[in-house]
Amino acid sequence: MDIPAQHRYLQLADLIVSMIDNGALSSGKRLPSVRSFSEQHSVSVFTTLRAYRLLEDRGILMSRPQSGFYVAAGRRNLLALPSASRLRTKVSTVSISGAVAALLEHASNASLVPLGCTVPAAGLLQSKRLDMTLARAARQHGDRYNIYCPPQGDAVLRQEIAKRAMRIGQALSPDDVIVTAGCTEALMLALTAIAKPGDTIAVESPTYFGLLHTLEMLGMKVIELPTNPSTGIEVDVLSRLLDSQKITACVLSSSFSNPLGSAMPEARKVEALALLNRHEVPLIEDDVYGDIHFGRERPKPFAALEGGENTIYCSSFSKCLAPGYRVGWITAGPYAQKVLERKLAFSLCGPVLPQVALAEFLASGAYDTHLRRIRHAFEENLQRMTRAIEDSFPTATKVSRPAGGFVLWLELPRPFDSRELFDEAIEHGICFAPGDVFSANRYFRNCLRLSAASDWNDRVADGVRRLGRLASTQLAR
Ligand SMILES: Cc1ncc(COP(=O)(O)O)c(C=O)c1O
Repeated sequence: MDIPAQHRYLQLADLIVSMIDNGALSSGKRLPSVRSFSEQHSVSVFTTLRAYRLLEDRGILMSRPQSGFYVAAGRRNLLALPSASRLRTKVSTVSISGAVAALLEHASNASLVPLGCTVPAAGLLQSKRLDMTLARAARQHGDRYNIYCPPQGDAVLRQEIAKRAMRIGQALSPDDVIVTAGCTEALMLALTAIAKPGDTIAVESPTYFGLLHTLEMLGMKVIELPTNPSTGIEVDVLSRLLDSQKITACVLSSSFSNPLGSAMPEARKVEALALLNRHEVPLIEDDVYGDIHFGRERPKPFAALEGGENTIYCSSFSKCLAPGYRVGWITAGPYAQKVLERKLAFSLCGPVLPQVALAEFLASGAYDTHLRRIRHAFEENLQRMTRAIEDSFPTATKVSRPAGGFVLWLELPRPFDSRELFDEAIEHGICFAPGDVFSANRYFRNCLRLSAASDWNDRVADGVRRLGRLASTQLAR
């Protein structure tokens, strides 16, 4: 297939990754200068620089001032990337609630090695300072906060959220922000504001099972979009579908999808936005992992890009600071009134104290310091987990290389069955997420998701290795 000129940098980036994978470029090695690489490949200096910068943002390359670009340390990458999903795109009803409930029950069982749970460990979050802020607010002004706040949420928190959004190019006023009970409520409000039972929603595949669960409860149907483990949905497939089907809305992760860790490059996001705008199909984006980026810059959400004005943006503080506070937010542009009516009808407003504490924490600058620490911790955890997978899983295992977030997606050769492994792993005291819960059609039975959200220690390392051995034994049977 001809690659459009504006996407040539993606092709170059893939080429560099494959050179790293096959050992032609080893860890720490300097890449050719931007000028000579451009000459070798007959592309502009701009295209090469774009490819280098993309890989830098994914943590694959590092730049050194006055010196050039180098392969980042620890990029041994013995295992290949999972394949891009190729699926029969058909409209499906969702029936996932039983599987999700069973998985969540195991994922919260502290006696199991926690590879199934995407709630960051308390030791990593270190939320004591935030908790103390909340305790002080309760002690000093408890009666002021023991009230119903406006349905939009606490004004100071909305102001802080709007300020942070400005930094990534999303021009917002505090009035555009509605505080929600986590990203889950934000997604639910967005979906009910624009779609009704029976409508079809396009989603990435694999996608976050909680979204599938919400869609099931809302009686909405799903169409699964083929998705690349690095670069997100295949925009040309979405284009063909939009020409032939009625799709009411599309839900995409902004960056670092759960479970793939994929992030669409900016140019592809803009392309997807133009396509959706042309077909007047609203986009709902889930940016819950966006702050956990390993590259230099935080990837921009769709809402901050050209054509993103009508995007409904959903996020929360659950993945990097305070899962138990249940504070998220939504900005809904033209759908804001509908979202607000639903917020009022479903829950009136959120609890005030957690919002006040978060507002103070953000305003103090502590959140940025916290994010720097936690990004580093998650990146290290993922690297250690990848090494443990390389050491213990079958050699044909493929594993994702996320540039953010804290989950890994593994693909094993068929007839490997992650459901069978799941039952066996639970008996051995290990929990993980089998691949089929990430698909309405229960695809990906040969895949699994491992979470690196807990402290890395001998128990976790040993759990990954034992799981790898169980997988090898199953494949050898
Ligand atoms: C992609 C994604 N979106 C949303 C959520 C839910 O976020 P919250 O806990 O803020 O409701 C999760 C939690 O795992 C998630 O992975």
